[in-house]
Amino acid sequence: MPNSIIIQKKIEKFDKKILVNGDKSLSIRWVLFSSLASGMSEAKNLLLSEDVLAAINLIKKLGIKVMLKKNSCKIYGKGVEGYKYKNNLRLNAENSGTLGRLILGLLINTPNAIKLTGDKSLSLRDFKRVTKPLTQFGARFVLKKNYGLPLTITGTKKLKPIKYLEKRGSAQCKSSIIFGGMRTEGKTIIKAKKSRNHTELMCKYLKLPIKIENKKNYDLIKISKVNYINKFDYKIPSDISSAAFFIVLTVLTKNSKILIKNVNINPSRIGIIEILRKMGVKFFFKNKKDYRGETIADIIVKSTSKLKSINCPKSLSSNAIDELLIIFLVAAKANGVSYFRNLSELNKKESPRLKWAIKILKFLNIKTVATNDAIKIFGNPKIKINKKVIIKNFLKDHRVFMTSVIAALSFGGHWTIHDKDSIKTSFPLFMNILNKLKK
Ligand code: S3P
Repeated sequence: MPNSIIIQKKIEKFDKKILVNGDKSLSIRWVLFSSLASGMSEAKNLLLSEDVLAAINLIKKLGIKVMLKKNSCKIYGKGVEGYKYKNNLRLNAENSGTLGRLILGLLINTPNAIKLTGDKSLSLRDFKRVTKPLTQFGARFVLKKNYGLPLTITGTKKLKPIKYLEKRGSAQCKSSIIFGGMRTEGKTIIKAKKSRNHTELMCKYLKLPIKIENKKNYDLIKISKVNYINKFDYKIPSDISSAAFFIVLTVLTKNSKILIKNVNINPSRIGIIEILRKMGVKFFFKNKKDYRGETIADIIVKSTSKLKSINCPKSLSSNAIDELLIIFLVAAKANGVSYFRNLSELNKKESPRLKWAIKILKFLNIKTVATNDAIKIFGNPKIKINKKVIIKNFLKDHRVFMTSVIAALSFGGHWTIHDKDSIKTSFPLFMNILNKLKK
């Protein structure tokens, strides 16, 4: 298979400094905000992955000029009302749930119908979760099977502010509604279960009319119509969701150590660190600093021989939603039975990830007991495999691919893992960094 990789050997000990790709959530948000700004905004270290390129192509289709070079991306925003809504416009969010859902919030004023499409994986995902609240603003939608993509949106000039209760802990839903609120005269009020807060932090940094009250279990967000956004440059920090694969590889590989530079450790993103700490992993942070409301640091982690099982607090699941698959590999090696709950969103990602977790753990001879939103993992500190494993047909889910690679390098066996190109979705440097660790 041309696009598959074969791994037949565990990785040997390493002690390295690495730099992973830029944060995907921040990269997509920067593209969208700067497409509405007045004047030229420039980003450094923008993640040049397929999801972010899809965002760039999409705003170009809305009439926004973009200059993309290897080390810099310049976006020439034409102001908040600067999108050109041509007749019969078709936009493609490709594989990106974040792009597909967030952009709809910004399109609720389109006078012409716009068709939004996505790839095979995105077309299986739920868009009703955003079109339902966006309908309350006054936009109209027609969705395939009344559920997903392709969909058609027709906006209106007569938008009304809404009150919205976000119960899933989905930053995509919350952000889509914040964008809708930015287009709408009056005050939109959102009561949202905690989730990553990059959209709110960018709004605050840009001094947009947003108010946030952080309560214990939810955030109350009030947003009013935005009339002007200043152009703004941004240095995108590294993505903790990408760092996660190398954190886990280090934890599971004897006598190893890694320093991962300049990672965004925004408190709403570090579920993985809190979970692994409870399992006995020690983390050190160096050069910690604030950057435009985000928190950035170098992360240092070492291999951990005695891993404890965890009864994972429900609240940590949404802070680690993209890292759960890789965290489960640590649970596979922990002493005792680990229990994770609040996982219903996991089967609604780029592939049904909870199902994939169960499959991968089965290949590792690890027993699991799972429902639709919880899993018990019966860890084995002596885990070692030498059988043949083939991982394929996972809807090209980048995180399934990378988790399988880390499992193979940590536990042994003869693995053939298909669809290597899936890393281009979020972490193009993944294979390069692995090769650096092997030297
Ligand atoms: C993201 C939010 C999360 C996450 C996704 C990125 C974002 O999705 O899984 O990879 O940038 O807002 P949900 O908000 O649907 O949980």
